[in-house]
Amino acid sequence: MPVRDETEKRRTFAIISHPDAGKTTLTEKLLLFGGGIHTAGAVKSNKIKKTATSDFMEIEKQRGISVATAVMTFEYADRLINILDTPGHKDFAEDTYRTLSAVDSVILVIDCVKGVEEQTERLMEVCRMRRTPVIVFVNKLDREGRPPFELMDELENKLSITVKPLTWPIGMGARFKGVYNLHEKNVYLFHAGKTSVEENRFLIEDLTDTELDSRVGTEADHLREDVELIDGVYDPFTRDDYLSADVAPVFFGSALNNFGVRELLETFIEIAPPPREREADRRIVQPDEEALTGFVFKIHANLDPRHRDRIAFFRVCSGVFKRDKAFRHVRLKKNVRFSTPYNFMAQRKSIIDEAFPGDVVGLYDRGDLKIGDTLTEGEELMFRGVPSFAPEIFKELVSTDPMRQKQLEKGIKELTEEGVAQLFIQDLGRRRIVGTVGELQFDVIRYRLENEYGASCRLVPLPYTRACWLTTSKPAALKEFMQYRDRQIAIDRDGKPVYLSESEWLLNSMIEKYPDVSFHFNSEFKTESDQRFPDAPTRAAG
Ligand code: G4P
Repeated sequence: MPVRDETEKRRTFAIISHPDAGKTTLTEKLLLFGGGIHTAGAVKSNKIKKTATSDFMEIEKQRGISVATAVMTFEYADRLINILDTPGHKDFAEDTYRTLSAVDSVILVIDCVKGVEEQTERLMEVCRMRRTPVIVFVNKLDREGRPPFELMDELENKLSITVKPLTWPIGMGARFKGVYNLHEKNVYLFHAGKTSVEENRFLIEDLTDTELDSRVGTEADHLREDVELIDGVYDPFTRDDYLSADVAPVFFGSALNNFGVRELLETFIEIAPPPREREADRRIVQPDEEALTGFVFKIHANLDPRHRDRIAFFRVCSGVFKRDKAFRHVRLKKNVRFSTPYNFMAQRKSIIDEAFPGDVVGLYDRGDLKIGDTLTEGEELMFRGVPSFAPEIFKELVSTDPMRQKQLEKGIKELTEEGVAQLFIQDLGRRRIVGTVGELQFDVIRYRLENEYGASCRLVPLPYTRACWLTTSKPAALKEFMQYRDRQIAIDRDGKPVYLSESEWLLNSMIEKYPDVSFHFNSEFKTESDQRFPDAPTRAAG
């Protein structure tokens, strides 16, 4: 099959949600439809649960699960679907942000009882920044949830996106009768249970039809009123509005009962985008270009402590990835080849000979690859969109065994390359500051440094709450600022200057006091001299 057809066939997306909204359950039901798995319960939740077992055991278990479920591939209706897994725990949010750089669209799961939760808002912010198309699935309709119009308003207000319901619930909780498909104008009746029963669907040409009353009782009148209101409030749905990330279509259902999932999957197949163009530092890369390009968005290391191997997850953006073919490692300026690349069909790892745009390839690596690395067929380009986000908790890494200093250096270097945390350097490397978005990562770091590298350390809390990357078009102004705030300036892994602030108030006063210095909340920003992509997402403060 020509590359263009292979590309068109692929749909690469992530399911995102606040923990417990039903991401794992929905993933499993989608895989069941596609024959990717055959029994319920096969997809393990990647949540870290506080249980009787030690947290460290949970962390190790979770790492195993995240490799097994990092990419789940199945075929459905002539499409090849790649679901990229995102961690369930909020302390690993940065991993999720990076995974979102490798997808073409997302399905956002909301719990109808809880509505839009904190993590949902943060994840949507990242989707908005990249203009990723979003479909919303309102889950757990078998529970007494919030009124659907209220949920729609909350989605619009909290997520800053226009919504357009494509199905509508008939009742909820104990009164839940089914959903009305606003587009096809048919009613799908609900029966609790784990299988989807197609015969329960009936067509209703006209909502005044009394058959509706005999099937759903008093809920029929509520539905009529709701549909009238929906027709008055929401504009007709267009695929273009969805693809440009201006409008999010909304579905209702119950993942646990496999209800409304087929509707969701079928619409997804119809409207979700195939692999899209991607922005690199020098130009926009189109998926149908002949030469291979792609980037690493995730790394898993040392799963087997006896082997120092790592698996890098590589997203193909254009061209064809081939086994044993030499590709250009742009950052290291050298050629690399991979003899055992694999994919993740039907939850099995198998070695592949080629992969196409939209695919994710697992690459065994001995330390050459880090997050954001780009492979090409010779062109010197790097993909944008895999930024480091500003951490919020900071600790100084102090060696407690001078004999094991080397192990500590190697360990922290590799763990930060893997993306577990970010490392900032002060005093020419003598002082190392580790920054994360959650406390749990510090447990992971200490545990792994001790167990995998034989290093011994303390992590001493620091008072910082924010890290900002600094740029300027007036070098003298930046120099003055860096001298003035000397103790709060550090260098990131790429040698970029970073300001560590002790409070939001202090940060704002610095922004005010130094108008010629730009403060950025992620590591990826245009420098003042780089104006080739005026619409590139940046989050400069002020
Ligand atoms: P997550 O990955 O987003 O964190 O959520 P997950 O799918 O693990 O679901 C969280 C809980 O919500 C699970 O219950 C799951 O069974 C339940 N759930 C998911 N979809 C529905 C639904 O449509 N209706 C209802 N009533 N519940 C739903 P749990 O008790 O935490 O776990 P488990 O013991 O059932 O696995």
